[in-house]
Amino acid sequence: MAESSMLQTCGHPRPHKREGPKARFGRGRVATVWSILLSAVIACNPQTQETAVNQGISVIPQPAFVQQEEGAFTLDKNTTIYLEAGDSAILRTVGFLNERLEKAAGFTLPVVTDDPLAHGNEKGIFWLSAGWKPESYTLRAGQDRIVVEYADGAGAFYGLQTLLQLLPEAIFADTPQRGVRWEVPCCSIEDAPRFAYRGMHLDCCLHFFDIPFLKRYIDLMALHKVNRFHWHLTEDQGWRLEIKQYPLLTEKGQWRKETVIGSLSSGIYDGTPHGGYYTQEEVRDLVRYAAERYVTIIPEIEMPGHALAAIACYPELSCGLEDHYETATRWGIFKQVFCPKEETFTFLENVMDEVFALFPSTLVHIGGDECPKTSWKQCPHCQALIRKEGLKDEFELQSWFIQRMEKYINAKGHEIIGWDEILQGGLAPNAKVMSWLGEEGGIKAAQQHHEVVMAPYPKYYLDYWQADPDSEPLAMGGPTTLRTMYEYNPVPEILTPEERKYVIGVEGCVWTEYMPTPARVEYMAWPRMCAIAESGWTTREKDWDGFTRRLETHLARLDRLGVGYCDAFFNPFIEFHKDTPADKVVTISVDAPDTEIRYTLDGSEPTVASQLYEQPFVINRQQVVTAAAFRGGKQIGTTKHKAF
Ligand code: ACM
Ligand code: ZN
Repeated sequence: MAESSMLQTCGHPRPHKREGPKARFGRGRVATVWSILLSAVIACNPQTQETAVNQGISVIPQPAFVQQEEGAFTLDKNTTIYLEAGDSAILRTVGFLNERLEKAAGFTLPVVTDDPLAHGNEKGIFWLSAGWKPESYTLRAGQDRIVVEYADGAGAFYGLQTLLQLLPEAIFADTPQRGVRWEVPCCSIEDAPRFAYRGMHLDCCLHFFDIPFLKRYIDLMALHKVNRFHWHLTEDQGWRLEIKQYPLLTEKGQWRKETVIGSLSSGIYDGTPHGGYYTQEEVRDLVRYAAERYVTIIPEIEMPGHALAAIACYPELSCGLEDHYETATRWGIFKQVFCPKEETFTFLENVMDEVFALFPSTLVHIGGDECPKTSWKQCPHCQALIRKEGLKDEFELQSWFIQRMEKYINAKGHEIIGWDEILQGGLAPNAKVMSWLGEEGGIKAAQQHHEVVMAPYPKYYLDYWQADPDSEPLAMGGPTTLRTMYEYNPVPEILTPEERKYVIGVEGCVWTEYMPTPARVEYMAWPRMCAIAESGWTTREKDWDGFTRRLETHLARLDRLGVGYCDAFFNPFIEFHKDTPADKVVTISVDAPDTEIRYTLDGSEPTVASQLYEQPFVINRQQVVTAAAFRGGKQIGTTKHKAF
């Protein structure tokens, strides 16, 4: 039979002694037949033994089960891809493999779409559907065949992302690479995500980013199996989404006349207008682009706060306490918020109707954060409304506002998610919470049986420093290091097992006050987003050491893709801990594995013969710490200094 001959020539798969996710998934027809035959092959192999998990394989995020086997599959221009007939989504997914190969290897692979099992004796890459849980896949690579079995389109796409990461990192190059053997190590991988919601946010209001950059952003998310793009589109500092019924929102609301330089309170402005918006056509194109990569775009329309750009265009939406409203030119929180009157709800409902037509996502983000109550306290309409509705205060008015919008949004078949502050005055009945103010809001919401996405600051805020602020560009605060992000557990321990089920995922937040360019966004987001992606995806225990080993290989892929990530990974991080006015306790760490740190205290350049850092030490005011990381007698990364 085709099946058995195919399998018997597939490398030397080995069994895993502990139970992989396979046991939990339940399997489809094809997979069952194949698995039985596969185990028969394994059982006859006297050399079978479990190898160290993940040896020589560096996939990020870490799959649920990885086992490397002996040997490799070599891919060349004669390697055929076999697909089941009629599945255009899988055809598109393998097209991404051919796109990469065309660029990096200078050839593409022929694709045969009929019945892959009928080609069991051929050499090739086989794609087979099997009924496991959503987004799951398995990948088995033997010397003659690679077999990817997928639950659905997303599973196939994630199988492909893993396959790309099994190939030499040169597969991510944009020009044909000479002398590369396109080998995939023989292996057995079984994989499915921990959370359904694996998000990455981008604020396109504090600074505007164009569509080509957003496509690149989505490509990077997809490479890391991140499946929700939270697109922050409206703010005090600019409105970025074309709304046909309210053309002023973009004609005028996209602009701020200038931007504060440095921190929000510097008082110094650049005198240069900043603007930019997305046409509905561009949005549709981006939504389609993202969907082809299994990324759902969740638009955020802020209410009732962070609304100054809209109010500057349509002052009647405010409480009307001021003569003049202008798009904000500095960062922060503004008291000019939407007034809860009929005109405002008509506006927001009309905006939402256009949003629903553009974004197929069931979930829409309605903001809800940082809404000062100053204007509402002074506004006769707001005060009368509080009395009329029997509300206790302005916090209950905020809740009333959100609940009213939720009713409308639910009636249109959509659901809302909002930042923690939507808990103020009571959560809307069907709302999900995006927990950013630490974990508290997330815990409260889960205890009330509302679904929660954990995006806490500073643990998942990518706008915080990732290394010593002394030598980093201006950022929001911190530092929040790669390790801190990696080790954060997004499911708070305090929750009961039942409540934990309400944590549906994680998100990394990228607020762009101090990220005026795409390059700065990439610098701040990567590689820390790799850590969040791994927490969102893997069902395995955290393993910092293993993560750093995989990440070092992975960084070479990001290099090929031209991602300007922060290189703090390779550099010593010198930290001073307060002791006495004359002394400080010093700790030094480095993320890169298999390294040693050498340092001096007299300002000289450390060499491989300098003092080895073994434990915290004390310095006085006259001393300066200069440290470098070494591997195999050679320095890696850059030398770092820190003085009193
Ligand atoms: C937020 O950072 N204001 C959600
Ligand atoms: Zn008002």
